[in-house]
Amino acid sequence: MTTQQHPEAVLKDGVYYHEFDIVIVGAGGAGMRAAIEAGPGARTAVITKLYPTRSHTGAAQGGMAAALANVEEDSWEWHTFDTVKGGDYLVDQDAAEILAREAIDAVIDLENMGLPFNRTPEGKIDQRRFGGHTADHGKTPVRRACYAADRTGHMILQTLFQNCVKLGINFFNEYYALDLITVKDADGNTQVAGVVAYELATGDLHVFHSKAVIFATGGFGKIYKTTSNAHTLTGDGVGIVWRKGLPLEDIEFFQFHPTGLAGLGILLTEGARGEGAILRNASGERFMERYAPTIKDLAPRDIVARCMVKEVLEGRGAGPHKDYVYLDCTHLGAEVLETKLPDITEFARTYLGVDPVTEPVPVMPTAHYAMGGIPTTNNGEVLQNNDTVVPGLYAAGECACVSVHGANRLGTNSLLDINVFGKRSGRNAVEYVQTADFVPLPEDPAKEVREMLEGLRSNTGTERIAVLRKKLQEEMDANAQVFRTEETLTNVMGTIHDLRQRFKNVHIDDKGKRFNTDLLEAVELGFLLDLAEIVAYAARNRRESRGGHMREDYPDRNDEQYMQHTMAYLTGDPHSPDPEDHIKLDWKPVVFTKNDKGELNYPPMERKY
Ligand code: FUM
Repeated sequence: MTTQQHPEAVLKDGVYYHEFDIVIVGAGGAGMRAAIEAGPGARTAVITKLYPTRSHTGAAQGGMAAALANVEEDSWEWHTFDTVKGGDYLVDQDAAEILAREAIDAVIDLENMGLPFNRTPEGKIDQRRFGGHTADHGKTPVRRACYAADRTGHMILQTLFQNCVKLGINFFNEYYALDLITVKDADGNTQVAGVVAYELATGDLHVFHSKAVIFATGGFGKIYKTTSNAHTLTGDGVGIVWRKGLPLEDIEFFQFHPTGLAGLGILLTEGARGEGAILRNASGERFMERYAPTIKDLAPRDIVARCMVKEVLEGRGAGPHKDYVYLDCTHLGAEVLETKLPDITEFARTYLGVDPVTEPVPVMPTAHYAMGGIPTTNNGEVLQNNDTVVPGLYAAGECACVSVHGANRLGTNSLLDINVFGKRSGRNAVEYVQTADFVPLPEDPAKEVREMLEGLRSNTGTERIAVLRKKLQEEMDANAQVFRTEETLTNVMGTIHDLRQRFKNVHIDDKGKRFNTDLLEAVELGFLLDLAEIVAYAARNRRESRGGHMREDYPDRNDEQYMQHTMAYLTGDPHSPDPEDHIKLDWKPVVFTKNDKGELNYPPMERKY
């Protein structure tokens, strides 16, 4: 039976069944870039828990890297070098070469789609400096970030959405993907048959039967309290894939952006430092000169974030509690702030009552970006182990780990990543569906989701979602943030186990079907608990310091033992107290590229700036 609300769907046993060649989960930059590639060649649907232009890509501020050399000499090879060194040599170098080389076309694609980049007086796309991006292998900062004021992500999101609308892509807005439908073939290999989603407005379940699925669901910064991430960034896509027994890669590496508004975590773009803003401690000292004498405030984020925390821990913090440092923009002048950095100028005024034109702004690191995620090939195909893909399953953007960011992502490489690898995954999915058949659906594909939701809805426990979530976030801030130790990570794993037990008794006030955000927040908390545990467990297992993962008890990088990607697998009941009983950790080699003489293109070196 078809219905008025969903004329293209069939209603069977209370569940709507849709059929598309490709289903993309997530309507941020990666999802919509994939849709633009896939839409003309295959019946494509995008299902998204937010209205597309509310996706978190819109919060990315400062720019998108590409060695256009519009304002200074630059090359894609320097960009690759910076990406590899910035990622502390955990980057797969073939992927980084693709990222840097295809960056140029990715920017031109967006320009052709209508993106209003800032321009030089001659009319070229303007470029600004950003942390870790240098000329000639670290000699001096280079202007590589293409930007639209401090609203680059917002402009990308709007541009991609408009182009999706032009192409007639089918959007299912405010649909929460809750399960990936997989079927085992005769040899026990995983096959993909589609996605189960929950419609927020009605509480109805929808089965999207498809030949290919692309996950583009973003990150999971809400495992932390102090974060630049929106309330919705709960890692649903990563969690769904994890629960299917597929691996996650390098999940312990989480990025802390140096300049979050103190106490709030709201992002103040690194583009401010790109335009010349300076970090100062309580006595007004430009402390980054001591730590990174060559590129100072434009060192990579992991380094700057650690230096800021160190200044505070050693008593040089500012404010009544000496618990933040300052971002000083006062010398930039009102015109630069109002024209090139208008949003962050307004954020500081609105949220802290500080005017960056005349006063330095209190800042501290904020959880910003997951370097790890769903492992993929350079074509976006999801891996089920170190070298076998799951046919028809793709991932792109922050939820994926290609791996182009290694242990620390450079600013502006994320807007680039979503465009390059969103496009690649869309293109490869279209090729795949030309010859692939639909995998038949199992008998009742929505059964597990229905039972999970009913279980939560009918629970008579007394635990509150907000209380559990707050505890998780506070403990992750306290124990698995910029600095970590064996002890702090073990502590937080214990807390997560307790929270998991309490989660079994969670109480949902809203028993209704329409716009039941209470119910969905419980589902999201389940994903957050899963992901926080893997982050802590994999972080404890990596007994070295590399990029964003700083172990105070193992302060050095240990290439001999750990220059390898972590691969984590769910192997048992997540409620068992010891993660060793349900998480298996393994390793995957890092890809190095070589020149014609067989020498490494980017041999590991000490990360001095
Ligand atoms: O600082 C920023 O504008 C953030 C950019 C990014 O994460 O790439």
